[in-house]
Amino acid sequence: MIILKLGGSLLTDKRRKFSFRAEVARRVAREIAESGQRLVVVHGGGSFGHPLAVEYGLDKGIAEEKQLRGVALTRQAMARFNLLVVEALLREGVNAVGVQTSAIALCEGRRLSRLELGTVRGFLELGLTPVLYGDVVLDSKQGVCILSGDTLVAELAREFKPERVVLAADVDGVFDRPPSQEGARLVREVNPKNWERVLGAVRRGEDATGGMRRKLEELIELARLGYSSVIVNALVEGRLKKALLGEEVKCTVVKGGDYP
Ligand code: IPE
Repeated sequence: MIILKLGGSLLTDKRRKFSFRAEVARRVAREIAESGQRLVVVHGGGSFGHPLAVEYGLDKGIAEEKQLRGVALTRQAMARFNLLVVEALLREGVNAVGVQTSAIALCEGRRLSRLELGTVRGFLELGLTPVLYGDVVLDSKQGVCILSGDTLVAELAREFKPERVVLAADVDGVFDRPPSQEGARLVREVNPKNWERVLGAVRRGEDATGGMRRKLEELIELARLGYSSVIVNALVEGRLKKALLGEEVKCTVVKGGDYP
């Protein structure tokens, strides 16, 4: 099976709250359907999750009562986003089943401390496609925190030992300097030799969960366990399908291996 993360910036326009890119979602869903692969899908927060999480300071935990409103609003927004993603998949013939992350996950000091995966496993074994998402989650130290889809992907990989981990993004992969800068080059492979240099060049970002830098850190953790992953630009037609099928495609591969 394959674990697929659909990035929030792929499926939404991060500059506008609650802006779902329906056309992109439709094509992404079609490529998923055409790949015919067994999948667990995870999507990010995009413009449904991040603006609210940042506005209410949720990742720092609960310090004042008015943040509870933010928890409730973020949960609601993520549930709506999940419905839209599941609907797009259903329309293309994928038997997708939404799974509420905050109902199966607990954190402790912003680290995932428990993930109850019985339901996900059950759906998967039946032949369904579970669709989880980054979410606002209970935290035993600070009330709540933001659990990113990338952390979920890493944990799901530990549990389900997938053939492939694919991150569908709105960029070609990881660049050796900010992609907006002239001369920025795509890093084709992150490996035990170059990882520190590559990581050093990637900016942290200002969303609720740390942008591309955090993603890459999670993927390197995964690589330490032996799992390779790819970051692929799903805005370009056909690339996601190729990545899901394990075919040669323009992307960044984070190679599994012995990372110092
Ligand atoms: C964040 O998930 C979830 C919330 C903000 C509630 P991610 O960190 O995985 O989201 P993207 O993919 O970067 O948008």
